[in-house]
Amino acid sequence: MANRWINTLKDSDVTPETTFLNRRQMIAGAAAAGLASIGGSLSAKEALEPNSYEDITQYNNFYEFGTGKTDPAANAHTLVTAPWTVEIDGLVDKPGAYTFEDIMKAMTIEERIYRFRCVEAWSMVIPWNGFELADLLNMAGVQSGAKYVAFETALRPDEMPGVRFPVLDWPYVEGLRLDEAMHPLTIMATGIYGKDIPNQNGAPLRLVVPWKYGFKSIKSIVKITLTDKEPATSWNKANAREYGFYSNVNPEVSHPRWSQASERPVGGGLFAKRIPTLMFNGYEEEVAGLYTGMDLKTNF
Ligand code: MTE
Repeated sequence: MANRWINTLKDSDVTPETTFLNRRQMIAGAAAAGLASIGGSLSAKEALEPNSYEDITQYNNFYEFGTGKTDPAANAHTLVTAPWTVEIDGLVDKPGAYTFEDIMKAMTIEERIYRFRCVEAWSMVIPWNGFELADLLNMAGVQSGAKYVAFETALRPDEMPGVRFPVLDWPYVEGLRLDEAMHPLTIMATGIYGKDIPNQNGAPLRLVVPWKYGFKSIKSIVKITLTDKEPATSWNKANAREYGFYSNVNPEVSHPRWSQASERPVGGGLFAKRIPTLMFNGYEEEVAGLYTGMDLKTNF
């Protein structure tokens, strides 16, 4: 595909992943992500041992392609990801339809190895390729009145078999406060393990906010709106009691139907032990300051 980020890795570098990500690279990735010191009971190595490419791409949530974990891998090939444009509008100096190619030309692609924590209490570690969302927002020119960023996924009934079912109010939408969106840990991912991001993971670009539950990571984004009002979010609309706007990983605040104090690392085998969940998914040092003075029990 023209102008997609091209990597220099071969398939042989990717399987097994340990040949791609040796210890030194992992630490470099962690340092780049500002994770040189991870708190809590996990060592940096345990916290950042990446999952296999297969785990990451065969166990997904992307309800536009079905609600089962293997549905996206089976069905998302029908999504046409080129050409792709992202409309950026609202409180910006340069609103418009930005082509994926133009975005990729303007952005600096890096590798970021991030912990991923799903609200269903499983977790993964994923080597993303992508760019900081702040760079994209700055390209559009954020106006002083903007307080939030709203995101929208493509809605294409012909390409998305799951949207025939009203499991969510389509299109999938998400939102961040502007300071969360501008934080350097917040990225737009365009690749995994140095390959273009597969459709089931949200091609051609999806949000990744590593200190929030996975459902905040909206996929296959076609619209970004800068606004002064808190945007609606799909899961909050579906069930406001269970899913709040902030959705920060917080072991001290239980989901109404289950505890969030521990998690099951995917790929560890049937008898893999659960591990304690860290505040802000281990990124407390970097992001706790965004929430100073807020009651995180009511703002869950
Ligand atoms: N984005 C869209 N458009 N549709 C979805 O159903 N699911 C969310 C999030 N983004 C979802 C989405 C949920 S619940 C999770 S856990 C993550 O995507 C899963 O991302 P992954 O499949 O790359 O692990």
